[in-house]
Amino acid sequence: MRQAYIAGNWKMYKTAAEAAAVAGALASALASETGTKVMLAPPFTALHAVRDALKGSRILLGAQNACAELEGAHTGEISLRMLRDAGVTVVILGHSERRHVYGESDELVNRKVRLALAEGFEAILCVGETLDERQSGVTEKVVEAQTRAGLESVSTTDLAKVTIAYEPVWAIGTGKNATPQDADSVHKFIRGVVGSVYSAAAAQAMTIQYGGSVKPENIRALMAMENVDGALVGGASLQAETFLPIVKYDR
Ligand code: PGA
Repeated sequence: MRQAYIAGNWKMYKTAAEAAAVAGALASALASETGTKVMLAPPFTALHAVRDALKGSRILLGAQNACAELEGAHTGEISLRMLRDAGVTVVILGHSERRHVYGESDELVNRKVRLALAEGFEAILCVGETLDERQSGVTEKVVEAQTRAGLESVSTTDLAKVTIAYEPVWAIGTGKNATPQDADSVHKFIRGVVGSVYSAAAAQAMTIQYGGSVKPENIRALMAMENVDGALVGGASLQAETFLPIVKYDR
């Protein structure tokens, strides 16, 4: 009985005013919702404005990344301490754009995950294979390695605060999404990895989101799969008109 969890990743889009406007619209439209867990991750510069726009709403405030250190000489980085101050409770870590465009290693992602959990945040750990990796048949090997490394030294207690987002890199922002069956089979595999590292109970409790060109048109079929517990949505989360039907996929 895993709670559905839909998260919006706004990436490098929206000024503070633009972000607050959409967040406010979502907050009022979702005021009476109870079932699905919802999170928005605006750019850092819009966090305060979005926090204010979400006041009194049940939408969680997320960040798209965080530094693996709490403070120090790290020009251009944002600390979890600053994120907490801005009202953030969830951090997305290891997004493929961080891994592939900005060179984040499994080891760095793991340090971020451990620090975020130690600091009391929830984390969304992203994993996923590139097109080359899928075509060479190493999807499972890649997501297993990323899952194991990302969760290295994470306790069973802390694992309860981790969501895994399976995002095949070839499906992100491309309009090509994995079929619900493809997604489900990788999710089932990831659940098995969590089961072998932790326990069957921990694997059953693990929320696994799918990400990569999730749209109002495909969310229902994805959510109908046994192992798909939610979605991490990029492009379609930028406007209330496209994000709301995704959040309300069961209506
Ligand atoms: P997309 O992005 O929905 O635009 O494909 C998903 C993500 O990168 O989290």
